[in-house]
Amino acid sequence: MLCIHTPDKLAASLDLQPTPRILVPTMGALHDGHLTLVKRARELAGPTGSVILTLFVNPTQFNNPKDLDKYPRSLERDLELCKQHGVDLVFAPESGAMYYQDHSVNISESSLTQRLCGATRPGHFDGVCTVVMKLFNLCRADAAVFGKKDYQQLAVIRRMVRDLNIPITIEGVDTVREPDGLAMSSRNTRLTTDQRSDAPRIRKALLAARDAFLHGSSQVQALLELTRAEIEASPENKRIDYLELLDAESLQPIEEVTRPAVMATAVFYGDVRLIDNIEMLP
Ligand code: PAJ
Repeated sequence: MLCIHTPDKLAASLDLQPTPRILVPTMGALHDGHLTLVKRARELAGPTGSVILTLFVNPTQFNNPKDLDKYPRSLERDLELCKQHGVDLVFAPESGAMYYQDHSVNISESSLTQRLCGATRPGHFDGVCTVVMKLFNLCRADAAVFGKKDYQQLAVIRRMVRDLNIPITIEGVDTVREPDGLAMSSRNTRLTTDQRSDAPRIRKALLAARDAFLHGSSQVQALLELTRAEIEASPENKRIDYLELLDAESLQPIEEVTRPAVMATAVFYGDVRLIDNIEMLP
């Protein structure tokens, strides 16, 4: 497995990476969620193609500098996991190697980013779109794999690829969960023991909403109230950053679920922000 730290060296070694090249962009601190994306990438690459994984904690998508500082980093362990899971090339640039000091061109999406994380984290998706576009260009990949845990991110990237005619296929992978239902995230390690035992409540609340929907409740307001009550029904201190039920494709508000919809939430435990979502298909 090759590990490369600068765009120049990457350009020089790409010709040795046979096509199809399948890209898995990550910020490192790899867990089974990321490794499931690698497994899917390996399948898409087939016996002759190559899997490229990027490890880059992208500063431009963090709106809170403390969150960036606290983001877990574990390069040695990540490289070992990549080796074990059949990654062919890891691109792990230093932030100085990715952005020119006078970097002045950014990509911004103006519709799907109006709500959810787009509303509560201003500028976040500009940072994501711009770095993902750079990674697509640097890695010259035929396909890229993203997780549905970041539902809005996946939707925004699909839209960017469509609107800018980027020659790449986007593959979405289902959310990978802990046995108790909590969506895997590198942020989970920052929860206290009590917060960690409370956090699966988020998944349970979303499942309760979907159950209610499947049993005939389709009014958005009622479904949101039920979910909020489930999340808040324990003494553990937390704050719901957002909880919304939106059209699954446009990510715009609806009043009743009559078309595919997505309920998505972000919950703060102290300064640890967890996200999750569930699809509702009439
Ligand atoms: P990161 O949070 O490291 O996630 C990398 C990829 O792993 C994303 O596509 C994310 O959706 C996926 N992922 C994370 N946890 C998952 C889980 N439990 N199940 C399934 N997939 C999961 O998302 C980013 O990094 C960055 O924004 C990035 C796209 C790399 C741009 O900087």
